[in-house]
Amino acid sequence: MNDRSNMVKVAVVGGEGIGPEVTAQSQRVLNWFSANRGVPMVLRAAQYGLIPYLATGKVMPPDTVEAMEEADAILWGATGGPETKEVPPAARKAGSLLGLRSKYDLYANLRPIVAHPALSDSAPLKASVLDGVDFVIIRELTSGIYFGEPRGIETLPDGQRRGFNTEQYTTEQVRRVARSAFELARTRRNKVCSVDKANVLEASVLWREEVIALHEAEFSDVELTHMYVDNAAMQIVREPRQFDVMVTGNIFGDILSDEAGMLTGSIGMLPSASLGSDKRGLYEPVHGSAPDIAGKDIANPLASILSVAMMLRYTFDLEEEASRIERAVKKVLADGYRTADIYEPGKMRIGTAAMGDAVLASL
Ligand code: IPM
Ligand code: MG
Repeated sequence: MNDRSNMVKVAVVGGEGIGPEVTAQSQRVLNWFSANRGVPMVLRAAQYGLIPYLATGKVMPPDTVEAMEEADAILWGATGGPETKEVPPAARKAGSLLGLRSKYDLYANLRPIVAHPALSDSAPLKASVLDGVDFVIIRELTSGIYFGEPRGIETLPDGQRRGFNTEQYTTEQVRRVARSAFELARTRRNKVCSVDKANVLEASVLWREEVIALHEAEFSDVELTHMYVDNAAMQIVREPRQFDVMVTGNIFGDILSDEAGMLTGSIGMLPSASLGSDKRGLYEPVHGSAPDIAGKDIANPLASILSVAMMLRYTFDLEEEASRIERAVKKVLADGYRTADIYEPGKMRIGTAAMGDAVLASL
């Protein structure tokens, strides 16, 4: 038996919409690793969203804050959706996912883009373009226009209203996320493409200069290229195989990762890890809460299950166990289980829980 003090603490926060049901499946996968592979973990489930709000007046009640505070890894489901319009914006903001990313300084958001051949006919691009696509987007997650000040909505003297935000990056904010990208590239095909809008934005001019400086100082063995974000958006659908590791700022990464998600055949296939400077991480599917299909057992749990693989890789340091999950998912897909795109519910051939069964049977 493992000594409890060596246990990795995992907070499981299903959240809203389809979050709880997809997370229930990935939690089964975690339990399997604990029971069958001796992976030392203690799980603590905690609530987020409308239900705790109605009970406590907080979307993120104290028990959930405590569970996350003591956790080494957070398995997050999803947040948001029309069913939660009862929650006033201020209450939602007080317990937001953005706040969490910022609080734990999870500045590097890894979003792997792998095209699964079994899903290529549900992808909108030709199989010949998708074949062999395997890259990772590293999105800076705690700065940029999402957090820059000043921001607001003001009324001008002439009565018009003006909304404004600030795109910004500091030397250290760029360097630490670029470092994550170079280090990851060294474990892969050794290529980094840095994406910015340096032909227009000063924040991007600085971004590019800092990436180049770090590359020269410490990572000259890694191949580095630069791309403007508009061109990157085009290249992702034109020739996605050219990418190995793409590193970019917060909002460009938000947009490009949804676009790149379509290469996998379904945004329901995309896991993510949000990491800081230690082993603590927040692991979540890239998809949202999809309230229109919540509770129907048709949401695709694979993105959440693949997020558990990332957790085993980055927080537990268990590469072999992480690959075991990824192989199981590949096998399930190759065996012909077609998952729904969470935005096209009619397509799912087997239910959410049955998909969990299939993955467990393939581990
Ligand atoms: C994402 C989401 C979030 C973001 C939303 C829910 C605030 O789109 O994780 O990509 O914009 O970061
Ligand atoms: Mg997004």
